[in-house]
Amino acid sequence: MKKTMKTLAETRREYGFSSLTRNQLNKEPIEQMKLWLEQAKQAELKDATCMTLATTDDKGMPDARIVLLKQLDETGFSWYTSYTSSKGQQLENNPQACLLFYWRDVDRQVKIRGQVEKLTKEEAEAYFHSRPLDSQFSAAASHQSQPIDSRKTLEEKLKQLKNTNASAVERPENWGGYRLQPSSFEFWQGRENRLHDRFTYTKDNSNKWLITRLQP
Ligand SMILES: Cc1cc2nc3c(=O)[nH]c(=O)nc-3n(C[C@H](O)[C@H](O)[C@H](O)COP(=O)(O)O)c2cc1C
Repeated sequence: MKKTMKTLAETRREYGFSSLTRNQLNKEPIEQMKLWLEQAKQAELKDATCMTLATTDDKGMPDARIVLLKQLDETGFSWYTSYTSSKGQQLENNPQACLLFYWRDVDRQVKIRGQVEKLTKEEAEAYFHSRPLDSQFSAAASHQSQPIDSRKTLEEKLKQLKNTNASAVERPENWGGYRLQPSSFEFWQGRENRLHDRFTYTKDNSNKWLITRLQP
């Protein structure tokens, strides 16, 4: 029998993996985040460390793309990229951003907003050279977010670079990392019939984290 395709309006599913109560939440949002990240990894979710990074351009127009989380600790969330990419230029102009994780198989979403700073050259250097050599070459051959006439030109640039020294590559000056220092979090757990659980963490006047339940 032929399967009939659902329209966009008809496409929906139930969320019932788990629930979230105030009692389950760690007082420290970073600890809560580490726990959910660990659970996402344990559930063997593909791309558990993918996060959408939202920034704004110089006209206030939002932009977004996925990057990979490379470090998480009390100082914040870190990722690596090109400082001269579109996102790099946008962060130069407005060093505030939003990160969004979506873990489909456990019906969870986490939103983190905050101030962004550049990682040190030493941190960038160490991470750059820890990557597979071919990824290092690709990063060095690409001016991320700049137009190029063809794939062939890009591959030619890579070939030329490898011809100079195929066993090592220098980190381009404009390649480095960023860290977002969180000023707020929202943890979302999908529930049955769209009556989801949502909790925010914001700082109160004495700089302590305040947990608030939001309506779904
Ligand atoms: C799964 C996935 C992981 C990615 N990881 C990164 C990353 O860690 N760093 C990065 O610069 N771009 C990464 N990208 C590419 C970005 O989404 C984006 O295309 C690129 O950074 C250019 O963005 P921009 O022009 O807005 O600066 C990733 C894309 C996907 C789909």
